[in-house]
Amino acid sequence: MIIAIDGPAASGKGTLARRLAAHFGLRYLDTGLTYRAVADELLRCGEPLDDEPAAVRAVARVDFANMNRAHLAGHRIGEAASQIAVMPALRTALVDHQRGFAETPPGAVLDGRDIGTVVCPAAPVKLFVTATPEARARRRADEMASRGEPGHYDEVLADLRRRDARDTGRSVAPLAQAPDAVLLDTTELDIDAAFRAAVDIVRQALRAKGGQNGGLSTAT
Ligand code: DC
Repeated sequence: MIIAIDGPAASGKGTLARRLAAHFGLRYLDTGLTYRAVADELLRCGEPLDDEPAAVRAVARVDFANMNRAHLAGHRIGEAASQIAVMPALRTALVDHQRGFAETPPGAVLDGRDIGTVVCPAAPVKLFVTATPEARARRRADEMASRGEPGHYDEVLADLRRRDARDTGRSVAPLAQAPDAVLLDTTELDIDAAFRAAVDIVRQALRAKGGQNGGLSTAT
């Protein structure tokens, strides 16, 4: 059982994916962290961010089972991750790892940019989570403020727009809604309302596929 969740930065997809995994008793992988971990390794070694063989070699040095979310969340690493994500050979190496994770029982929730289109195109449930750039920038700026980090709304908004343009415009596996993904716009929803909507979407998708609950347990 695989649930594929895609969407732009700060759309709320990560929080939803984590909560859906706990709710349905599935494992969880934030695929953005895998790109961030490779970017971090390249930065640590002082290697350029446009050297594809170096990026592929770095994949072998990353311990994907022990990624440090707090460290990888930093802005510089996010920018570097978006830059290296345009390289096809790096994507192939990471997608192999992500598919292996998804296919390990009892299944998983994966979130990213290309889960429903490339990583798990046969996933029985696909969500595309989005919100306006302004709503996403407001949430991101509030989050940063709560961590005591400087994050001015206008700069965060400009940064998100740049990131969206790069993630949507790249030629390999761009950010895109799969034709069979259900759109969830969280602009007007708080996280609990978004979660309830996501659970309903999962249940409906599974019913439409003919399974009772697709073999899922409900943990909460
Ligand atoms: O979700 P995030 O901000 O942690 O992702 C960081 C970057 O990694 C994002 O800007 C693009 C890239 N990425 C990707 O290309 N494909 C994915 N499935 C996940 C992330």
